[in-house]
Parts: sequence; structure tokens; C-alpha cells
Amino acid sequence: MSDKIRVAVIFGGQSSEHEVSRFSAESVISNINTDKYDVAMIGITKEGRWLPYDGPVGLIGTGEWQALAESQDRPNHALLTAGTAIAESERDNRKIDVVFPVLHGCNGEDGTIQGLLELAGIPYVGCGVLSSSLGMDKAYAKIVFEREGLPQGKYLVYSRKQINREFEKISDDVERVLSYPCFVKPSNAGSSVGVSKVRNAGELGPALQLAAKYDRRILIEEFIDGREIECAVLGNDDPVASTVGEVIPCNEFYDYEAKYLSGDSSQIIIPADLPAEVIERIREYSVRAFKALDCSGLARVDFFVRKADNEVFINEINTMPGFTQISMYSKLWAASGLPYEKLVERLIELALERFEDNKREIDY
Ligand SMILES: Nc1ncnc2c1ncn2[C@@H]1O[C@H](COP(=O)(O)OP(=O)(O)O)[C@@H](O)[C@H]1O
Ligand SMILES: [Mg+2]
Repeated sequence: MSDKIRVAVIFGGQSSEHEVSRFSAESVISNINTDKYDVAMIGITKEGRWLPYDGPVGLIGTGEWQALAESQDRPNHALLTAGTAIAESERDNRKIDVVFPVLHGCNGEDGTIQGLLELAGIPYVGCGVLSSSLGMDKAYAKIVFEREGLPQGKYLVYSRKQINREFEKISDDVERVLSYPCFVKPSNAGSSVGVSKVRNAGELGPALQLAAKYDRRILIEEFIDGREIECAVLGNDDPVASTVGEVIPCNEFYDYEAKYLSGDSSQIIIPADLPAEVIERIREYSVRAFKALDCSGLARVDFFVRKADNEVFINEINTMPGFTQISMYSKLWAASGLPYEKLVERLIELALERFEDNKREIDY
């Protein structure tokens, strides 16, 4: 019997970042060290069905994997399919040693899959339940950043109900605290879905309604006229920061279209052209943010560096950032001397280490 470590790569998912996840997973699977690891593939359809897959890796990104996987008859009950997919991957009495949930956004990067894997007692790559949920929820991440003393822009948070009932008050608050332009976004979302730049009071209502489609809680933020700088963090208790990179969006801001639809017309520059002292400050803030949320494995921390004076503001943390070979996270590590294959290997090692470290002595 093989003594390779059996890694289940889970991809897709019920998220606006389903497609991105498929491309990230395809990269992971194609670059994993097969002398050391044995890969099982599990796709989650947009409808939430978990499907074990053993066809060509090249059909994951395109989405063609699904028809192949569906051609085998499988149960259609959410919990059952999750369990069945994992059980089927444990074929030939080979248990899954570790899961790599290459899932972005809601239902993947938010602690839900992490909770399922905790219950199943299977080690997994990346952040745990708490850090995943905190990272996904921008309003809560801000509370933790504030407590850690990390600089961030001014913001307001409202519930969907408040938006419908107290619009006048919200409009006054924005005028008084933030003024225009400002940014409106769902607290829990990703890929810039539901994010709007609001230029005047007239645009506020529609922007709030749009954001409220995606979440129960809505953030309104001070506009920061800044460059977008990102930093990759890797590790468990002693995380390290990569160099930093700059994203130059091809649209007015880094919206969904600029992120995924415009080919490669949004540019990535590594290292970012910033004074050494600013780069160091961002790297330090990144590690502090990672630790403050109790992250493990990986996270990409995103900042704005104000154009006028190079002041640094933390924007958000992503606990399962885009993970193709050409994604910012992987490129930052490649530029810092850790190539993609080694990065994947390191993440798996960190997952196994954290699993051991998390064991508690409990007498039932
Ligand atoms: N307060 C802000 N000031 C200026 N630009 C912003 C602000 N908030 C968001 N943006 C723009 O919107 C993009 C998406 O917002 P972000 O909060 O990063 O959400 P997501 O999780 O969807 O990436 C950012 O990359 C940036 O271009
Ligand atoms: Mg972002």
C-alpha cells in the first residue's frame, strides 16, 4: 500500500467565487508533488451537491468535470453527499489524511466547511472556524483590527432592516461622519459583488439596496483614494509575511469585472514600488492582522496606501485568497523565494501541524 499522504482537494462551492475556485484547484492539483501526495478530487456544484471526481484535471477549470461526475448516480441530500464524497475518496481503505478546501467566499472561506471538517476529525489546510468567519465578515474583522490598533478608514454598519426603516438617519450619518464619495458593501461577500462607489446622496439608496441583496449587514466606508497593496502571510503560530504587491485595476475600482472578466488587463506589480519603510510597515501590519484573528496556514492581507501621503490603511483579510499560479498570493511567495509546488507542500505540512497542536485533553 502507498505511504503517500492522501490529500482531498475540494473545489467549486455555492459561492460567487465558484469559478475562481475551480481554477485555483486545477493549479493545486496539477502542481502537487505526486511522489509525496496522492490526490482525491471533490467538486461542489453551485447547487451544493458534493461530487467525487476522478476525470482529467484539465476539465475542472472549464466546468466540464461536473457532467462527468454527475454521470454516476449519487444521493442528493446535502449532508449525505458531503459524507459520501469524503467516504468515496477514502477508497481502498485509504483514509483522507488532509483536506485542502480550495474554496473562496461564502460556504467555503467562512468557517462552514471548516466546521464540518472539525466534526469529521480531518486535518485541513488554512484557517480554522473562528478566523475564517471573522475574515469573511468585514464588519467583525474591523472590530478585531481596531482592537489590535491597525489603522483603517472610518465606517458605519447597518442591518438590512435599518436600511429599509431608517434611511433618512443613515443618510444623515453618512453626510456627517463620512461624506461623499463613500463605499457601500455587504459585510459578508467577496469578489466585489454588491460593492459600489457612492458619489452623492442620490446614489446612496440604490447602493444600499444592492449590498443588502447579498447580506443582512451592510458596511458604509470612507473612500480612501489609495493604491491597492497586498501582502501574503504564511504559517501558524509564527507566521511570516512575503514582500508586498500592487494591483492596478483596469476599472475605476477593483470590481468584479476588473478582477475576473477583463482578461489580464488588471496589472500586478511585485514588489510594489513603495518606500522600504512603507513596505515594512505593511508586512508588520499583515502579521499582526493574521495573529489578531488567530489565523493559521495562509491569508492575504489587503491595504490601501493613500496616494496623497503614503498613509497605510488595512482594508480586509482573505483567508483563502485566489490560489492559481498567477494569483497575487502565489506570486508574492514565488517572488519571496518559495515556488508554487513548495508553497502547496508547506500548506499541507502546516495543516497537519495545526491539527496536532489543536488536540486537547478532554475526559468525556
Ligand atoms: N473604502 C474604500 N475606498 C476606496 N476603494 C474601496 C474602498 N472599499 C473598497 N474599495 C474598492 O472596492 C474593491 C472591493 O472591495 P473589498 O472591500 O476589497 O471587497 P471584496 O471582498 O469583494 O474584495 C477594492 O479592491 C477597492 O478597489
Ligand atoms: Mg478585496
